Amino acid sequence: MKLSRSPRKKRLSENFVEKSTWNLRDVGHLRAVKEALHVSTAPSNVVCRDNEQNRILDFCKNCVEQEKAGSLYVCGCPGTGKSLSMEKVKNILVNWANEEHLQPPDILSINCTSLTKTTEIFGKILGENYPQKKPDRSTSPLLVLQNMYSQKQPTGVQMILVIADELDYLITKDRAVLHDLFMLTTLPFSKCILIGIANAIDLADRFMPKLQSLNCKPMVITFRAYSKDQIITILQERLRELPYKVFQPQAVELCARKVASASGDMRKALAVCRSALEILEAESRDPVSNFSLPLSDRNADQQKPAPCDITTNQANNMVRIDHVAAALSKTFKSPVVDTIQSLPQHQQMILCSAVKLFRGGKKDTTIGELNKYYMDVCKSTLIPPVGIMELSNMCRVLDDQGILKLGQSKDDKLRRVTLKVDGADIVFALQGVRFFRNCLQ
Ligand SMILES: Nc1ncnc2c1ncn2[C@@H]1O[C@H](COP(=O)(O)OP(=O)(O)OP(=O)(O)O)[C@@H](O)[C@H]1O
Ligand SMILES: [Mg+2]
Repeated sequence: MKLSRSPRKKRLSENFVEKSTWNLRDVGHLRAVKEALHVSTAPSNVVCRDNEQNRILDFCKNCVEQEKAGSLYVCGCPGTGKSLSMEKVKNILVNWANEEHLQPPDILSINCTSLTKTTEIFGKILGENYPQKKPDRSTSPLLVLQNMYSQKQPTGVQMILVIADELDYLITKDRAVLHDLFMLTTLPFSKCILIGIANAIDLADRFMPKLQSLNCKPMVITFRAYSKDQIITILQERLRELPYKVFQPQAVELCARKVASASGDMRKALAVCRSALEILEAESRDPVSNFSLPLSDRNADQQKPAPCDITTNQANNMVRIDHVAAALSKTFKSPVVDTIQSLPQHQQMILCSAVKLFRGGKKDTTIGELNKYYMDVCKSTLIPPVGIMELSNMCRVLDDQGILKLGQSKDDKLRRVTLKVDGADIVFALQGVRFFRNCLQ
């Protein structure tokens, strides 16, 4: 199945393409970019989740076709596209059922955080779809449902698809509500297709054994954290809706690299991009201050071209790597970043050389080879290098700080060097200084 973008949106963006080029000072343009990057803006194309969506859809189609109840448990860390994918699947399912001339199920989407008490979920299932089956005082919605699904029902009774998002909120001490809910799908005449969504990865381990012992085995689909490349693809896809180029590719990459190494949470990636745009906006209003740089670096950054310089106008209008670095620092300042930022300059240059050296996927090197990269960095920044003995001593200091790891060898040049911190943290820590920024681009 191909999840294609909606024709309406496509036409909208095509019209847009004919219209304009990016202008940072145009309020309408700014609003459009911010909207494209807003978490609550549903993207017309949910990329990078085709596999998960297809599996959920297949599960639902199977239940609908065979008119059989079933349960599915969707889990994954925050911001990994679970709720978004579910919305997409829901729409595709209804269209599919209509095309196939099958009766689509009634759909009940519940965000469990909105329930005042956990057992309220049974009332919702009963109330919305079987209003005629109101429980009297002596019984409860759960009992009515259990009773109903235990007896043959008249033909034509619709299936119900219950999507219980934020399922974690139903955990009670004895997990009774969770068990009762899933067990509804195992009753002999059940019409309930249940999809529970939660971000507690271990929730399944905690409630599954009991369910399995009762012969209920929900299918489990895990949404893994987004990788750097997936975050880049998603951001590019969202920005593709706009007719202009607003972000430099390296800026998007830095955001993706850092967010992927921290959590893979798409909400964070979007927040960082929006914040970077706001920093650029503030800078354009007050071009003398460089908002993206730390105070200590603002004066040192005099080589920065004036905003009115025509040749650099376009670059000045775009969100650059330094804007993203500043936005990231607001969101994720870590102790490692602080440590790296307060190191002496030559130690920072060693780390910058190591990041360049390890970019190709290499995991370790020797002091001799690191020295070659360090010499190149010194050359490009016109800073006189220290000798290899001193470089080796500085590597030892970085090893003591837990930033590098040094191996043993009689010959210093042959000592093995590996990074003990995330390369993205180094890039991030050094981005604020112009010559490192140039070196790392
Ligand atoms: N594949 C994607 N394409 C475009 N945008 C995405 C994608 N995945 C996530 N997003 C964006 O990130 C936001 C968060 O995603 P979503 O609400 O689906 O996360 P979740 O996995 O349900 O998180 P939680 O566990 O916190 O509920 C979405 O509103 C959307 O803006
Ligand atoms: Mg969600």
